Amino acid sequence: MSTQRPLEHDLLFDFLRVVEAAAVEAARTMGRGERDYSDEVAVEKMREVMDTIPMDGTIVIGEGERDEAPMLYIGERVGLGAKPGGEGQYPAVDIAVDPLEGTNLCATGSANAIAVLAAAEKGGLLHAPDIYMNKIVVGPSVKGAVDIDAPVKDNLHAIATRLKRKVEDLTIVVLDRPRHNKLIQEIRDAGARIRLITDGDLSAGISAAVAGSGVHALMGIGGGPEGVITAAAMKCLNGEIQARFMMPEQLEAEERAKIAPDIAERMLKMGIKDPSRVYDTNELAPGKKIIFAAAGVTDGTILRGVRFFGTGKRTQSLVMTTETMHVRFVDTVHVEGGPDAFVRFDKI
Ligand code: FBP
Repeated sequence: MSTQRPLEHDLLFDFLRVVEAAAVEAARTMGRGERDYSDEVAVEKMREVMDTIPMDGTIVIGEGERDEAPMLYIGERVGLGAKPGGEGQYPAVDIAVDPLEGTNLCATGSANAIAVLAAAEKGGLLHAPDIYMNKIVVGPSVKGAVDIDAPVKDNLHAIATRLKRKVEDLTIVVLDRPRHNKLIQEIRDAGARIRLITDGDLSAGISAAVAGSGVHALMGIGGGPEGVITAAAMKCLNGEIQARFMMPEQLEAEERAKIAPDIAERMLKMGIKDPSRVYDTNELAPGKKIIFAAAGVTDGTILRGVRFFGTGKRTQSLVMTTETMHVRFVDTVHVEGGPDAFVRFDKI
């Protein structure tokens, strides 16, 4: 029998602390209308707490390249292993972070902003560039039944069949963008219901794999980095993502403008030789030891946002790993205020 402790024992609760802290910091700025500021405080806090963790971490998906992001940039070393004398002392971990997923959602106090990260052993997460990705995300019951290249109506029928319900009873989440006009029309023509969201396709993808969330699939084009973190979550939830990078020439001018001009070159450097291929869950997150952690910033479909009160604050998080396949919804009361502190039982 192996005596090796699972990675979860060592790092799961550390990563929980990281997302909780980032969520609290971002939530303090909720509704201020300053998305960049909200993101900044979440990044700073995430980085600060990450540096207390006994790991030798490398950011593989982060806030951007080293020259454009001061912290949590791609390639940055984090954790105690990155400090002087820490070399070789701690487990090597690749980390994908999105300190504030849904910056606009936080800035406007809208639903489903989260602080999130995924970690794995070296090479366990695809190094995805910040480019758009077409995605379809479904839960465990639908795994293996959809094909990103199939007509939308065929996928909807496949989802409905697996979920033993009518197409009319499905809810499909789609980012509300002009690029999705055709997709939205096709879903409507097939008869399914649609939830259009202004932002946050990562948390929508996770909801699709959680029965009872009221979300049956996520479809459409969103961020590539979000796609990799979604894949990490799917590995832990037994769900499925299929995805394909969208190259600039496939996009409208407004979206093209958000993509680095040398993207093709960067992708090659990251080892992506054929950007037109479909990536499945395992290719996006090949790791055997994946840890996923997310904390609600604003109230959302499956996670409540941060609540502040006189003697502390309360967070709700989702932490899970492929090693144990435990999916933990964690409700944490962060008690402050010394002897006057109290903890109240509440339904979460
Ligand atoms: P940010 O949190 O970085 O603002 O991303 C929010 C988001 O809505 C993602 O959930 C989604 O994948 C992406 O932006 C879509 O990009 P765009 O707004 O350019 O369509």
